[in-house]
Amino acid sequence: MSETAKFELDGQVYEFPVIEGTENEKAIDISSLRGKSGYITLDPGFKNTGSCQSAITFLDGEKGILRYRGYPIEQLAEKATFIEVSYLLIYGHLPSTKQLNDFRISITRHTLVHEDMKQFFEAYPAKAHPMGVLASMVCSLSTFYPESLDPNRSDEDKDITIHRLLAKLPTLAAWSYKNSVRHPFMYPKNKLDYCSNFLHMMFAMPTEDYLADPIISKALNTLLILHADHEQNCSTATTRVVGSSRVNLYASIAAGITALWGPLHGGANQSVIEMLEQIQNDGGDVDKWILKAKDKNDSFRLMGFGHRVYKNFDPRATIIKKECDAILDKLGIDDPMLDIAKKLEKVALEDDYFKSRNLYPNVDFYSGIIYKALKIPTEMFTVMFVLGRLPGWIAQWKEMIEGGEPIGRPRQVYTGENERDYVPIEKR
Ligand code: CMC
Repeated sequence: MSETAKFELDGQVYEFPVIEGTENEKAIDISSLRGKSGYITLDPGFKNTGSCQSAITFLDGEKGILRYRGYPIEQLAEKATFIEVSYLLIYGHLPSTKQLNDFRISITRHTLVHEDMKQFFEAYPAKAHPMGVLASMVCSLSTFYPESLDPNRSDEDKDITIHRLLAKLPTLAAWSYKNSVRHPFMYPKNKLDYCSNFLHMMFAMPTEDYLADPIISKALNTLLILHADHEQNCSTATTRVVGSSRVNLYASIAAGITALWGPLHGGANQSVIEMLEQIQNDGGDVDKWILKAKDKNDSFRLMGFGHRVYKNFDPRATIIKKECDAILDKLGIDDPMLDIAKKLEKVALEDDYFKSRNLYPNVDFYSGIIYKALKIPTEMFTVMFVLGRLPGWIAQWKEMIEGGEPIGRPRQVYTGENERDYVPIEKR
């Protein structure tokens, strides 16, 4: 028997279907509410609003579960490569050996960016934040590939656009860094795997080869997998809504990149290190900063703590914390800032304010610390998040386009002036 929900409004009862997902999560389908009753729902921040049905990622914030296409994040992080996970997210199943090889070869063949794009990079000031540069560069790709402009042109065109973007993003990301330090751009090396190639473009110089330490490539592979998708977060929802206007993939992803940049979202990994530096420069008194974070009259928040959906623990943080300890150990890193991070984590986990609000360290608390250990410059941390999140955004965009979703267009409750007459300037 199918369930319905009943709303009583102005003495009249309206019925709406209840939808159930494959993991038994339930939703009231209110898509006919306004047509039937004239009412809309109001939910700032979309805390209770589902914007789509999706078969890509399942997340249970209470139980700390995260699965891509049904596969637990713990298994993928331990056993898979980032390219394999990208295939899984985008095409919905784990690839066969041939499918994975073809996918890898196609991505490898598209790693170069058009030489003209170098001039765009050079026109940016050295102090330009790499996220601003990256978003513009990704959008600019659309100008070089006119066949990408119509997202529905053909499956073949869609695939080539997807492969190009996955291939070129590491090149654009590394070049946005090279430009910021005014170092020569390093071209991709197609014999290297995805992570090692990115590290080569970041750290090699024409005068000096760089071969990534396998420990570092492996850590990066894990970090990218952990960030690869996270259902309808701010940047993914943005990518889907922007794409719902049927603009091309590059423009939709550029919008996702800008949404990720903010400190409440992907920008938190940069903010964590900046916060730790601030605490260290202030003398390292962790208790003082915990008090500041709890003070409602102080805008300071503990960056890297709290999450909209995880209310017990962030499963990505559990994996990454282990990886973080292992990597610091293997690389023999002893940084006083890490002691502050550990103290902060301990105090916050024992403090009632944080416990009662379910504020735990999230993935970005540890990812920032690992990126610092890997010598990734702080302003590049959110760019690293972009590298990881790209296959998720692509998969979500593809699902939205292929599902023929309507254009995203929320309603509002107007709270401004009622109609009034224009007053000529001399009478104001
Ligand atoms: N430090 C101190 N207090 C906090 C924090 C924090 N980091 N996060 C939430 N709170 C308090 C908040 O003041 C509120 O208290 P009260 O109920 O007394 O008013 C309560 O906890 C609930 O917070 P909220 O802002 O209503 O929760 P939200 O779901 O809207 O926000 C969040 C989630 C992630 C934006 C927020 O926890 C935050 O700003 N965290 C710091 C930034 C951060 O680390 N972001 C990265 C998230 S993980 C990466 C990603 O997927 O984007």
